[in-house]
Amino acid sequence: MGSSTLISDTDAWKDLKSHVEDIKKTHLRDLMSDTARCQSMMVEFDGMLLDYSRQRVTVNTVDKLYKLAEAAYLKEKIKRMYSGEHINSTENRSVLHVALRASRDEVICSDGKNVVPDVWNVLDKIRDFSERVRSGSWVGATGKALKDVIAIGIGGSFLGPLFVHTALQTDPEAMECAKGRQLRFLANVDPTDVVRSTVGLKPETTLVVVVSKTFTTAESMLNARTMREWISSALGTSAVAKHMVAVSTNLLVSVSCIISYIHFCLFLMQLVEKFGIDPSNAFAFWDWVGGRYSVCSAVGVLPLSLQYGFPVVEKFLKGASSIDQHFYSAPFEKNIPVLLGLLSIWNVSFLGYPARAILPYSQALEKFAPHIQQLSMESNGKGVSIDGVPLPYEAGEIDFGEPGTNGQHSFYQLIHQGRVIPCDFIGSAKSQQPIHLKGEVVSNHDELMSNFFAQPDALAFGKTPEELHKENVPQHLISHKTFSGNRPSLSLLLPALNACNVGQLLAIYEHRIAVEGFIWGINSFDQWGVELGKSLATQVRKQLHASRTKGEPVKGFNFSTTTLLTRYLEATQDAPVDPPVSLLPRI
Ligand code: F6P
Repeated sequence: MGSSTLISDTDAWKDLKSHVEDIKKTHLRDLMSDTARCQSMMVEFDGMLLDYSRQRVTVNTVDKLYKLAEAAYLKEKIKRMYSGEHINSTENRSVLHVALRASRDEVICSDGKNVVPDVWNVLDKIRDFSERVRSGSWVGATGKALKDVIAIGIGGSFLGPLFVHTALQTDPEAMECAKGRQLRFLANVDPTDVVRSTVGLKPETTLVVVVSKTFTTAESMLNARTMREWISSALGTSAVAKHMVAVSTNLLVSVSCIISYIHFCLFLMQLVEKFGIDPSNAFAFWDWVGGRYSVCSAVGVLPLSLQYGFPVVEKFLKGASSIDQHFYSAPFEKNIPVLLGLLSIWNVSFLGYPARAILPYSQALEKFAPHIQQLSMESNGKGVSIDGVPLPYEAGEIDFGEPGTNGQHSFYQLIHQGRVIPCDFIGSAKSQQPIHLKGEVVSNHDELMSNFFAQPDALAFGKTPEELHKENVPQHLISHKTFSGNRPSLSLLLPALNACNVGQLLAIYEHRIAVEGFIWGINSFDQWGVELGKSLATQVRKQLHASRTKGEPVKGFNFSTTTLLTRYLEATQDAPVDPPVSLLPRI
Protein backbone atom coordinates (compact mmCIF):
# COMPACT_ATOMS: atom_id res chain seq x y z
CA MET A 1 0.00 0.00 0.00
CA GLY A 2 1.56 3.31 -1.04
CA SER A 3 1.58 6.12 1.51
CA SER A 4 -1.40 7.86 -0.09
CA THR A 5 -3.42 4.69 -0.75
CA LEU A 6 -6.46 4.34 1.43
CA ILE A 7 -6.81 1.12 3.39
CA SER A 8 -10.29 0.70 1.92
CA ASP A 9 -8.68 0.23 -1.51
CA THR A 10 -6.72 -2.83 -0.40
CA ASP A 11 -7.72 -6.43 -1.08
CA ALA A 12 -7.55 -7.17 2.64
CA TRP A 13 -10.22 -4.54 3.37
CA LYS A 14 -12.43 -5.68 0.48
CA ASP A 15 -12.07 -9.29 1.60
CA LEU A 16 -13.27 -8.36 5.09
CA LYS A 17 -16.17 -6.40 3.58
CA SER A 18 -17.43 -9.47 1.77
CA HIS A 19 -16.75 -11.64 4.82
CA VAL A 20 -19.33 -9.61 6.78
CA GLU A 21 -22.07 -11.57 4.99
CA ASP A 22 -20.65 -14.85 6.42
CA ILE A 23 -20.63 -13.41 9.91
CA LYS A 24 -24.18 -12.11 9.61
CA LYS A 25 -25.27 -15.73 9.31
CA THR A 26 -23.73 -16.65 12.65
CA HIS A 27 -24.96 -16.20 16.19
CA LEU A 28 -22.71 -15.94 19.22
CA ARG A 29 -24.74 -18.73 20.80
CA ASP A 30 -23.31 -21.08 18.20
CA LEU A 31 -19.87 -19.52 17.98
CA MET A 32 -19.51 -19.86 21.75
CA SER A 33 -20.20 -23.60 21.60
CA ASP A 34 -16.98 -24.15 19.64
CA THR A 35 -14.46 -24.66 22.44
CA ALA A 36 -11.43 -24.73 20.12
CA ARG A 37 -12.48 -21.34 18.72
CA CYS A 38 -12.95 -19.90 22.21
CA GLN A 39 -9.64 -21.35 23.36
CA SER A 40 -7.86 -19.58 20.50
CA MET A 41 -9.40 -16.29 21.60
CA MET A 42 -7.87 -16.25 25.08
CA VAL A 43 -4.65 -14.29 25.43
CA GLU A 44 -2.58 -14.00 28.58
CA PHE A 45 0.04 -11.50 29.60
CA ASP A 46 1.62 -11.02 33.02
CA GLY A 47 -1.30 -12.51 34.92
CA MET A 48 -4.03 -10.78 32.90
CA LEU A 49 -6.41 -12.63 30.64
CA LEU A 50 -8.09 -11.22 27.55
CA ASP A 51 -11.08 -13.23 26.35
CA TYR A 52 -12.43 -12.05 23.01
CA SER A 53 -14.48 -15.13 22.22
CA ARG A 54 -17.68 -13.07 22.51
CA GLN A 55 -16.73 -10.93 19.55
CA ARG A 56 -18.62 -11.60 16.34
CA VAL A 57 -15.60 -13.19 14.75
CA THR A 58 -14.48 -16.61 13.61
CA VAL A 59 -10.88 -17.79 13.48
CA ASN A 60 -11.08 -16.93 9.79
CA THR A 61 -12.14 -13.35 10.58
CA VAL A 62 -9.18 -12.90 12.87
CA ASP A 63 -6.82 -14.18 10.14
CA LYS A 64 -8.31 -11.68 7.75
CA LEU A 65 -7.77 -8.93 10.33
CA TYR A 66 -4.08 -9.90 10.53
CA LYS A 67 -3.94 -9.54 6.74
CA LEU A 68 -5.50 -6.11 7.09
CA ALA A 69 -2.81 -5.23 9.63
CA GLU A 70 -0.20 -6.32 7.10
CA ALA A 71 -1.83 -4.30 4.35
CA ALA A 72 -1.79 -1.24 6.64
CA TYR A 73 1.91 -1.85 7.48
CA LEU A 74 0.97 -1.97 11.14
CA LYS A 75 4.25 -3.53 12.31
CA GLU A 76 6.26 -0.93 10.42
CA LYS A 77 4.15 1.91 11.78
CA ILE A 78 4.64 0.71 15.36
CA LYS A 79 8.40 0.58 14.73
CA ARG A 80 8.37 4.05 13.24
CA MET A 81 6.63 5.34 16.36
CA TYR A 82 9.16 3.73 18.71
CA SER A 83 12.09 4.93 16.62
CA GLY A 84 11.05 8.57 16.97
CA GLU A 85 10.09 9.27 13.36
CA HIS A 86 7.89 12.33 12.97
CA ILE A 87 4.73 10.27 12.53
CA ASN A 88 2.66 13.22 13.75
CA SER A 89 3.24 14.76 10.35
CA THR A 90 0.85 17.71 10.57
CA GLU A 91 2.75 18.99 13.60
CA ASN A 92 6.09 17.58 12.43
CA ARG A 93 6.65 15.75 15.71
CA SER A 94 7.74 12.37 17.03
CA VAL A 95 5.27 10.45 19.16
CA LEU A 96 7.25 9.05 22.04
CA HIS A 97 5.09 8.66 25.13
CA VAL A 98 6.74 5.24 25.45
CA ALA A 99 9.98 7.06 26.35
CA LEU A 100 8.27 8.53 29.41
CA ARG A 101 8.28 5.15 31.10
CA ALA A 102 11.45 3.69 29.65
CA SER A 103 14.05 2.39 32.08
CA ARG A 104 17.17 4.51 32.55
CA ASP A 105 19.32 2.32 30.32
CA GLU A 106 17.01 2.32 27.30
CA VAL A 107 17.86 4.37 24.25
CA ILE A 108 14.94 6.07 22.50
CA CYS A 109 15.80 8.82 20.07
CA SER A 110 13.99 11.83 18.73
CA ASP A 111 15.81 13.88 16.10
CA GLY A 112 18.95 11.85 16.67
CA LYS A 113 19.06 12.50 20.41
CA ASN A 114 18.45 9.92 23.12
CA VAL A 115 15.56 11.42 25.11
CA VAL A 116 15.62 8.92 28.00
CA PRO A 117 18.25 10.83 30.07
CA ASP A 118 16.09 13.99 29.77
CA VAL A 119 13.05 12.01 30.94
CA TRP A 120 14.94 10.74 33.97
CA ASN A 121 16.33 14.19 34.79
CA VAL A 122 12.75 15.38 35.19
CA LEU A 123 11.67 12.24 37.05
CA ASP A 124 14.58 12.67 39.47
CA LYS A 125 13.64 16.30 39.96
CA ILE A 126 10.03 15.26 40.69
CA ARG A 127 11.19 12.59 43.11
CA ASP A 128 13.31 15.14 44.96
CA PHE A 129 10.68 17.89 44.99
CA SER A 130 7.79 15.63 45.97
CA GLU A 131 9.84 14.13 48.80
CA ARG A 132 10.68 17.59 50.09
CA VAL A 133 7.04 18.65 50.01
CA ARG A 134 5.80 15.42 51.54
CA SER A 135 8.41 15.39 54.28
CA GLY A 136 7.71 19.03 55.16
CA SER A 137 11.18 20.28 54.27
CA TRP A 138 9.58 22.44 51.53
CA VAL A 139 7.16 24.72 53.37
CA GLY A 140 4.70 27.41 52.40
CA ALA A 141 4.96 31.14 53.03
CA THR A 142 3.94 30.85 56.69
CA GLY A 143 6.32 27.99 57.40
CA LYS A 144 3.61 25.34 57.33
CA ALA A 145 3.94 22.08 55.42
CA LEU A 146 1.93 21.83 52.19
CA LYS A 147 -0.37 18.85 52.61
CA ASP A 148 -2.89 19.57 49.87
CA VAL A 149 -2.41 19.92 46.14
CA ILE A 150 -4.66 21.45 43.51
CA ALA A 151 -3.68 20.46 39.99
CA ILE A 152 -4.95 22.94 37.40
CA GLY A 153 -5.23 21.63 33.85
CA ILE A 154 -7.75 20.52 31.27
CA GLY A 155 -8.08 17.77 28.66
CA GLY A 156 -4.90 15.71 28.57
CA SER A 157 -3.49 17.84 31.36
CA PHE A 158 -6.31 16.63 33.60
CA LEU A 159 -8.17 13.48 32.57
CA GLY A 160 -5.29 11.00 32.68
CA PRO A 161 -4.00 12.19 36.07
CA LEU A 162 -7.57 12.18 37.41
CA PHE A 163 -8.08 8.61 36.21
CA VAL A 164 -4.86 7.38 37.83
CA HIS A 165 -5.49 9.32 41.04
CA THR A 166 -8.98 7.86 41.33
CA ALA A 167 -7.67 4.37 40.61
CA LEU A 168 -5.00 4.59 43.31
CA GLN A 169 -7.14 6.28 45.95
CA THR A 170 -8.23 2.98 47.49
CA ASP A 171 -5.18 0.87 46.66
CA PRO A 172 -3.90 -0.06 50.16
CA GLU A 173 -0.26 0.85 49.50
CA ALA A 174 -1.09 4.15 47.79
CA MET A 175 -3.72 4.96 50.40
CA GLU A 176 -1.23 4.52 53.21
CA CYS A 177 1.25 6.81 51.44
CA ALA A 178 -1.43 9.47 50.93
CA LYS A 179 -2.51 9.67 54.57
CA GLY A 180 -3.27 13.24 55.62
CA ARG A 181 -2.92 14.56 52.08
CA GLN A 182 -5.45 15.60 49.44
CA LEU A 183 -5.10 15.92 45.68
CA ARG A 184 -7.80 17.87 43.86
CA PHE A 185 -8.21 18.94 40.27
CA LEU A 186 -9.39 22.23 38.86
CA ALA A 187 -10.24 21.81 35.20
CA ASN A 188 -13.39 23.61 34.18
CA VAL A 189 -13.25 27.37 33.68
CA ASP A 190 -16.67 27.45 35.33
CA PRO A 191 -16.05 29.46 38.55
CA THR A 192 -18.11 26.87 40.36
CA ASP A 193 -15.23 24.45 39.84
CA VAL A 194 -12.96 26.87 41.71
CA VAL A 195 -15.22 26.54 44.72
CA ARG A 196 -15.52 22.80 44.38
CA SER A 197 -11.78 22.28 44.20
CA THR A 198 -10.86 24.65 47.03
CA VAL A 199 -13.65 24.18 49.53
CA GLY A 200 -12.16 23.20 52.89
CA LEU A 201 -8.59 23.92 51.80
CA LYS A 202 -6.39 26.70 53.15
CA PRO A 203 -3.98 28.66 50.95
CA GLU A 204 -1.18 28.38 53.53
CA THR A 205 -1.16 24.58 53.35
CA THR A 206 -1.93 24.22 49.64
CA LEU A 207 0.40 23.78 46.69
CA VAL A 208 -1.02 24.63 43.26
CA VAL A 209 0.40 22.82 40.24
CA VAL A 210 -0.37 24.55 36.95
CA VAL A 211 -0.31 21.90 34.23
CA SER A 212 -0.44 23.06 30.65
CA LYS A 213 1.56 21.79 27.72
CA THR A 214 1.32 25.12 25.94
CA PHE A 215 0.86 27.37 28.99
CA THR A 216 -1.64 29.32 26.90
CA THR A 217 -4.88 27.32 27.20
CA ALA A 218 -7.51 29.93 28.06
CA GLU A 219 -9.34 27.90 30.70
CA SER A 220 -6.22 26.76 32.54
CA MET A 221 -4.61 30.18 32.47
CA LEU A 222 -7.70 31.89 33.90
CA ASN A 223 -7.95 29.20 36.57
CA ALA A 224 -4.24 29.67 37.32
CA ARG A 225 -4.71 33.43 37.67
CA THR A 226 -7.71 32.79 39.92
CA MET A 227 -5.71 30.48 42.17
CA ARG A 228 -2.82 32.95 42.19
CA GLU A 229 -5.31 35.53 43.48
CA TRP A 230 -6.59 33.00 46.04
CA ILE A 231 -3.05 32.57 47.34
CA SER A 232 -1.80 36.14 47.13
CA SER A 233 -4.93 37.69 48.65
CA ALA A 234 -4.42 35.45 51.68
CA LEU A 235 -0.64 35.33 51.92
CA GLY A 236 0.76 38.19 49.80
CA THR A 237 2.19 38.11 46.29
CA SER A 238 5.59 36.81 47.37
CA ALA A 239 3.84 33.58 48.52
CA VAL A 240 3.15 32.61 44.91
CA ALA A 241 6.69 31.30 44.39
CA LYS A 242 6.29 28.97 47.38
CA HIS A 243 2.77 27.83 46.60
CA MET A 244 2.71 27.49 42.83
CA VAL A 245 4.72 25.31 40.48
CA ALA A 246 4.27 24.54 36.80
CA VAL A 247 4.37 21.66 34.35
CA SER A 248 4.86 22.62 30.74
CA THR A 249 6.66 21.56 27.57
CA ASN A 250 10.37 21.66 27.49
CA LEU A 251 11.47 24.55 29.60
CA LEU A 252 15.08 23.45 29.47
CA VAL A 253 16.75 24.55 26.29
CA SER A 254 18.78 21.78 24.76
CA VAL A 255 21.73 22.74 22.59
CA SER A 256 20.56 20.41 19.84
CA CYS A 257 17.27 22.29 19.54
CA ILE A 258 16.61 24.09 16.32
CA ILE A 259 16.49 27.89 16.60
CA SER A 260 12.73 28.25 16.32
CA TYR A 261 12.31 25.63 19.01
CA ILE A 262 14.72 27.47 21.29
CA HIS A 263 12.59 30.56 20.81
CA PHE A 264 9.51 28.55 21.67
CA CYS A 265 11.11 27.16 24.83
CA LEU A 266 12.29 30.60 25.91
CA PHE A 267 8.81 31.91 25.24
CA LEU A 268 7.34 29.23 27.52
CA MET A 269 9.93 29.92 30.21
CA GLN A 270 9.03 33.59 30.03
CA LEU A 271 5.34 32.73 30.29
CA VAL A 272 5.95 30.70 33.43
CA GLU A 273 8.23 33.33 34.96
CA LYS A 274 5.94 36.20 33.99
CA PHE A 275 3.17 34.37 35.73
CA GLY A 276 5.13 34.52 38.99
CA ILE A 277 6.33 30.94 39.10
CA ASP A 278 10.03 30.41 39.71
CA PRO A 279 11.31 28.70 36.51
CA SER A 280 13.35 26.35 38.68
CA ASN A 281 10.02 25.07 40.03
CA ALA A 282 8.83 24.26 36.54
CA PHE A 283 8.79 20.63 35.43
CA ALA A 284 9.37 19.96 31.79
CA PHE A 285 7.98 17.65 29.21
CA TRP A 286 8.43 17.66 25.48
CA ASP A 287 6.60 18.36 22.26
CA TRP A 288 6.88 14.67 21.35
CA VAL A 289 4.34 13.93 24.11
CA GLY A 290 0.77 14.49 22.98
CA GLY A 291 -1.47 16.11 25.63
CA ARG A 292 -3.75 13.07 25.94
CA TYR A 293 -0.70 10.77 26.05
CA SER A 294 1.02 12.81 28.77
CA VAL A 295 -0.10 11.19 32.02
CA CYS A 296 3.28 9.43 32.35
CA SER A 297 5.13 12.75 32.01
CA ALA A 298 5.36 15.41 34.73
CA VAL A 299 1.71 16.14 33.89
CA GLY A 300 0.65 13.09 35.89
CA VAL A 301 3.82 12.10 37.68
CA LEU A 302 4.20 15.37 39.62
CA PRO A 303 0.72 15.62 41.18
CA LEU A 304 0.55 11.87 41.72
CA SER A 305 3.99 11.78 43.37
CA LEU A 306 3.01 14.64 45.65
CA GLN A 307 -0.02 12.62 46.71
CA TYR A 308 1.31 9.06 46.78
CA GLY A 309 5.08 9.41 46.76
CA PHE A 310 7.35 8.73 43.83
CA PRO A 311 7.93 5.00 44.56
CA VAL A 312 4.20 4.24 44.03
CA VAL A 313 4.14 6.28 40.83
CA GLU A 314 7.26 4.51 39.61
CA LYS A 315 5.36 1.21 39.86
CA PHE A 316 2.65 2.71 37.67
CA LEU A 317 5.29 3.74 35.10
CA LYS A 318 6.81 0.26 35.19
CA GLY A 319 3.40 -1.26 34.50
CA ALA A 320 2.95 0.96 31.46
CA SER A 321 6.47 0.13 30.30
CA SER A 322 5.78 -3.62 30.49
CA ILE A 323 2.94 -3.13 28.00
CA ASP A 324 5.17 -0.97 25.78
CA GLN A 325 7.55 -3.90 25.48
CA HIS A 326 4.73 -6.37 24.94
CA PHE A 327 3.16 -4.17 22.25
CA TYR A 328 6.48 -3.76 20.46
CA SER A 329 7.57 -7.37 20.48
CA ALA A 330 4.66 -9.81 20.95
CA PRO A 331 3.38 -11.52 17.81
CA PHE A 332 0.02 -10.15 16.76
CA GLU A 333 -1.87 -13.29 17.87
CA LYS A 334 -0.67 -12.69 21.43
CA ASN A 335 -0.48 -8.92 21.36
CA ILE A 336 -3.28 -7.49 23.50
CA PRO A 337 -3.30 -3.88 22.19
CA VAL A 338 -3.05 -5.09 18.60
CA LEU A 339 -5.90 -7.57 19.01
CA LEU A 340 -8.08 -4.99 20.73
CA GLY A 341 -7.37 -2.45 18.01
CA LEU A 342 -8.14 -4.88 15.21
CA LEU A 343 -11.40 -5.94 16.87
CA SER A 344 -12.44 -2.31 17.18
CA ILE A 345 -11.77 -1.79 13.48
CA TRP A 346 -13.88 -4.85 12.72
CA ASN A 347 -16.75 -3.59 14.84
CA VAL A 348 -16.70 -0.02 13.56
CA SER A 349 -15.75 -0.33 9.92
CA PHE A 350 -17.20 -3.69 8.99
CA LEU A 351 -20.06 -4.53 11.35
CA GLY A 352 -21.07 -0.86 11.50
CA TYR A 353 -21.16 -0.47 15.28
CA PRO A 354 -19.92 3.09 15.88
CA ALA A 355 -19.79 3.07 19.69
CA ARG A 356 -17.93 1.22 22.40
CA ALA A 357 -18.92 0.94 26.06
CA ILE A 358 -16.13 0.80 28.62
CA LEU A 359 -17.41 -1.07 31.63
CA PRO A 360 -14.92 -1.54 34.43
CA TYR A 361 -16.26 -3.65 37.26
CA SER A 362 -14.30 -1.54 39.69
CA GLN A 363 -15.25 1.73 41.31
CA ALA A 364 -11.56 2.61 41.36
CA LEU A 365 -11.74 2.79 37.56
CA GLU A 366 -14.64 5.26 37.56
CA LYS A 367 -12.60 7.86 35.70
CA PHE A 368 -11.23 5.42 33.13
CA ALA A 369 -14.01 5.94 30.59
CA PRO A 370 -13.76 9.77 30.74
CA HIS A 371 -10.02 9.48 30.07
CA ILE A 372 -10.53 7.05 27.20
CA GLN A 373 -13.17 9.37 25.75
CA GLN A 374 -10.48 11.99 25.14
CA LEU A 375 -7.73 9.53 24.31
CA SER A 376 -9.81 7.76 21.71
CA MET A 377 -12.07 10.44 20.31
CA GLU A 378 -9.50 13.24 20.13
CA SER A 379 -7.03 10.80 18.56
CA ASN A 380 -9.20 9.02 16.04
CA GLY A 381 -12.12 11.34 15.41
CA LYS A 382 -10.76 12.38 12.03
CA GLY A 383 -12.29 12.88 8.61
CA VAL A 384 -9.18 12.74 6.43
CA SER A 385 -6.27 10.37 6.02
CA ILE A 386 -2.79 11.29 7.21
CA ASP A 387 -2.18 12.62 3.70
CA GLY A 388 -5.26 14.83 3.86
CA VAL A 389 -7.47 12.66 1.65
CA PRO A 390 -11.16 12.63 2.74
CA LEU A 391 -11.96 9.20 4.14
CA PRO A 392 -14.59 7.14 2.34
CA TYR A 393 -15.21 5.36 5.67
CA GLU A 394 -15.86 6.58 9.19
CA ALA A 395 -12.90 6.67 11.57
CA GLY A 396 -13.11 6.94 15.33
CA GLU A 397 -15.36 5.40 17.89
CA ILE A 398 -17.92 6.89 20.26
CA ASP A 399 -16.68 5.93 23.70
CA PHE A 400 -18.64 6.10 26.90
CA GLY A 401 -18.90 4.09 30.06
CA GLU A 402 -19.55 3.72 33.74
CA PRO A 403 -18.33 1.26 36.30
CA GLY A 404 -20.38 -1.88 36.75
CA THR A 405 -22.68 -2.46 38.43
CA ASN A 406 -23.81 1.20 38.36
CA GLY A 407 -24.05 1.14 34.57
CA GLN A 408 -26.38 -1.85 34.73
CA HIS A 409 -28.94 0.34 36.45
CA SER A 410 -28.41 3.12 33.96
CA PHE A 411 -27.91 2.39 30.27
CA TYR A 412 -27.61 -1.40 30.02
CA GLN A 413 -31.27 -1.63 28.96
CA LEU A 414 -30.23 -0.08 25.65
CA ILE A 415 -27.27 -2.39 25.16
CA HIS A 416 -29.30 -5.51 25.95
CA GLN A 417 -32.43 -4.82 23.91
CA GLY A 418 -31.83 -1.60 22.01
CA ARG A 419 -28.77 -0.70 19.99
CA VAL A 420 -25.81 -2.99 19.59
CA ILE A 421 -22.81 -1.54 21.41
CA PRO A 422 -19.66 -3.63 21.67
CA CYS A 423 -18.65 -3.68 25.33
CA ASP A 424 -15.30 -3.87 27.10
CA PHE A 425 -15.76 -5.62 30.44
CA ILE A 426 -12.79 -4.96 32.71
CA GLY A 427 -12.47 -6.69 36.06
CA SER A 428 -9.85 -7.62 38.59
CA ALA A 429 -9.52 -10.94 40.37
CA LYS A 430 -8.66 -9.30 43.67
CA SER A 431 -10.42 -6.34 45.21
CA GLN A 432 -8.45 -3.35 46.41
CA GLN A 433 -10.62 -3.41 49.54
CA PRO A 434 -12.13 -6.84 50.18
CA ILE A 435 -15.19 -7.18 52.42
CA HIS A 436 -16.87 -10.44 53.37
CA LEU A 437 -19.73 -10.29 55.79
CA LYS A 438 -20.31 -13.22 58.07
CA GLY A 439 -23.29 -15.19 56.87
CA GLU A 440 -23.27 -13.78 53.32
CA VAL A 441 -23.12 -16.34 50.51
CA VAL A 442 -20.24 -14.59 48.79
CA SER A 443 -17.85 -11.74 49.47
CA ASN A 444 -18.77 -8.26 48.25
CA HIS A 445 -16.18 -8.52 45.49
CA ASP A 446 -17.58 -11.91 44.41
CA GLU A 447 -20.98 -10.26 44.22
CA LEU A 448 -19.58 -7.53 41.98
CA MET A 449 -17.74 -10.03 39.83
CA SER A 450 -20.80 -12.26 39.48
CA ASN A 451 -22.16 -9.45 37.34
CA PHE A 452 -18.88 -9.09 35.45
CA PHE A 453 -19.17 -12.75 34.39
CA ALA A 454 -22.93 -12.75 33.81
CA GLN A 455 -23.39 -9.65 31.67
CA PRO A 456 -21.24 -10.76 28.69
CA ASP A 457 -23.20 -14.01 28.48
CA ALA A 458 -26.53 -12.20 28.71
CA LEU A 459 -25.42 -10.05 25.78
CA ALA A 460 -24.04 -12.93 23.73
CA PHE A 461 -26.66 -15.61 24.32
CA GLY A 462 -29.78 -13.55 24.97
CA LYS A 463 -33.03 -15.29 25.73
CA THR A 464 -35.31 -16.83 23.15
CA PRO A 465 -39.14 -16.87 23.03
CA GLU A 466 -38.94 -20.67 23.40
CA GLU A 467 -37.08 -20.33 26.68
CA LEU A 468 -39.63 -17.79 27.87
CA HIS A 469 -42.53 -20.07 26.95
CA LYS A 470 -40.94 -22.84 28.99
CA GLU A 471 -40.90 -20.45 31.94
CA ASN A 472 -44.65 -19.83 31.44
CA VAL A 473 -44.16 -16.16 30.61
CA PRO A 474 -47.53 -14.76 29.48
CA GLN A 475 -47.82 -14.45 25.72
CA HIS A 476 -48.25 -10.67 25.75
CA LEU A 477 -44.86 -10.27 27.46
CA ILE A 478 -42.87 -12.68 25.29
CA SER A 479 -41.57 -10.07 22.82
CA HIS A 480 -40.81 -7.62 25.63
CA LYS A 481 -38.80 -10.21 27.52
CA THR A 482 -36.96 -11.62 24.53
CA PHE A 483 -33.25 -10.85 24.27
CA SER A 484 -31.90 -11.24 20.76
CA GLY A 485 -28.34 -11.83 22.04
CA ASN A 486 -25.50 -11.89 19.51
CA ARG A 487 -24.17 -8.68 21.05
CA PRO A 488 -20.37 -8.57 21.11
CA SER A 489 -18.17 -7.91 24.09
CA LEU A 490 -14.72 -8.72 25.35
CA SER A 491 -13.50 -9.39 28.86
CA LEU A 492 -10.22 -8.30 30.35
CA LEU A 493 -9.51 -9.88 33.72
CA LEU A 494 -6.63 -8.30 35.63
CA PRO A 495 -5.00 -10.13 38.54
CA ALA A 496 -5.39 -7.10 40.84
CA LEU A 497 -5.67 -3.36 40.63
CA ASN A 498 -2.47 -1.91 42.00
CA ALA A 499 -0.30 0.88 40.59
CA CYS A 500 1.40 -1.48 38.15
CA ASN A 501 -1.89 -2.88 36.77
CA VAL A 502 -3.26 0.65 36.38
CA GLY A 503 -0.20 1.54 34.29
CA GLN A 504 -0.72 -1.57 32.20
CA LEU A 505 -4.37 -0.79 31.58
CA LEU A 506 -3.53 2.75 30.52
CA ALA A 507 -0.84 1.63 28.05
CA ILE A 508 -3.08 -1.11 26.60
CA TYR A 509 -5.67 1.49 25.62
CA GLU A 510 -3.11 4.04 24.43
CA HIS A 511 -1.65 1.47 22.05
CA ARG A 512 -5.00 0.04 21.06
CA ILE A 513 -6.09 3.49 19.94
CA ALA A 514 -2.84 3.96 18.00
CA VAL A 515 -3.44 0.61 16.28
CA GLU A 516 -6.87 1.76 15.17
CA GLY A 517 -5.43 5.00 13.80
CA PHE A 518 -2.61 3.16 12.03
CA ILE A 519 -5.12 0.89 10.29
CA TRP A 520 -7.49 3.70 9.36
CA GLY A 521 -4.45 5.55 8.00
CA ILE A 522 -5.11 8.71 9.96
CA ASN A 523 -2.97 10.90 12.20
CA SER A 524 -4.00 9.88 15.72
CA PHE A 525 -1.69 12.42 17.29
CA ASP A 526 -2.98 15.81 16.16
CA GLN A 527 -6.25 17.54 17.15
CA TRP A 528 -7.07 20.30 14.70
CA GLY A 529 -10.76 19.75 15.37
CA VAL A 530 -10.56 21.57 18.69
CA GLU A 531 -9.31 24.83 17.19
CA LEU A 532 -12.38 26.33 15.51
CA GLY A 533 -14.49 26.48 18.66
CA LYS A 534 -11.57 28.05 20.53
CA SER A 535 -11.20 30.89 17.99
CA LEU A 536 -14.95 31.56 17.91
CA ALA A 537 -14.91 31.82 21.71
CA THR A 538 -12.23 34.51 21.37
CA GLN A 539 -14.61 36.52 19.17
CA VAL A 540 -17.40 36.12 21.73
CA ARG A 541 -15.07 37.12 24.60
CA LYS A 542 -14.21 40.35 22.73
CA GLN A 543 -17.87 41.08 22.14
CA LEU A 544 -18.80 40.51 25.78
CA HIS A 545 -16.04 42.88 26.88
CA ALA A 546 -17.03 45.57 24.34
CA SER A 547 -20.73 45.30 25.20
CA ARG A 548 -20.15 45.42 28.94
CA THR A 549 -17.55 48.20 28.96
CA LYS A 550 -18.71 50.38 26.05
CA GLY A 551 -22.30 49.29 25.64
CA GLU A 552 -21.56 48.14 22.08
CA PRO A 553 -24.40 46.20 20.46
CA VAL A 554 -23.84 42.59 19.53
CA LYS A 555 -22.72 42.44 15.90
CA GLY A 556 -20.99 40.13 13.46
CA PHE A 557 -22.75 36.96 14.62
CA ASN A 558 -25.59 35.00 13.06
CA PHE A 559 -29.17 35.61 14.16
CA SER A 560 -29.26 32.77 16.66
CA THR A 561 -26.00 33.66 18.42
CA THR A 562 -26.88 37.37 18.38
CA THR A 563 -30.20 36.61 20.11
CA LEU A 564 -28.60 34.35 22.71
CA LEU A 565 -25.77 36.79 23.43
CA THR A 566 -28.15 39.72 23.71
CA ARG A 567 -30.34 37.79 26.13
CA TYR A 568 -27.29 36.80 28.18
CA LEU A 569 -26.05 40.40 28.37
CA GLU A 570 -29.51 41.67 29.34
CA ALA A 571 -29.85 39.05 32.06
CA THR A 572 -26.47 39.95 33.57
CA GLN A 573 -26.64 43.74 33.29
CA ASP A 574 -25.98 44.12 37.01
CA ALA A 575 -22.62 42.26 36.83
CA PRO A 576 -19.74 44.62 37.76
CA VAL A 577 -17.85 45.63 34.63
CA ASP A 578 -14.42 46.20 36.11
CA PRO A 579 -14.41 45.34 39.83
CA PRO A 580 -12.02 47.45 41.95
CA VAL A 581 -10.77 44.27 43.66
CA SER A 582 -10.93 40.69 42.47
CA LEU A 583 -14.20 39.03 43.32
CA LEU A 584 -13.56 35.54 44.55
CA PRO A 585 -16.37 33.28 45.70
CA ARG A 586 -16.67 32.87 49.44
CA ILE A 587 -15.14 29.49 50.08
O1 F6P B 1 -8.57 19.87 23.95
C1 F6P B 1 -7.53 20.37 23.20
C2 F6P B 1 -6.22 20.30 23.92
O2 F6P B 1 -5.25 20.85 23.10
C3 F6P B 1 -5.82 18.88 24.35
O3 F6P B 1 -5.26 18.16 23.34
C4 F6P B 1 -4.93 19.17 25.49
O4 F6P B 1 -4.74 18.04 26.27
C5 F6P B 1 -5.70 20.26 26.19
O5 F6P B 1 -6.23 21.04 25.13
C6 F6P B 1 -4.94 21.10 27.14
O6 F6P B 1 -3.83 21.74 26.56
P1 F6P B 1 -2.65 22.33 27.42
O7 F6P B 1 -2.01 21.22 28.16
O8 F6P B 1 -1.72 22.97 26.44
O9 F6P B 1 -3.22 23.35 28.38
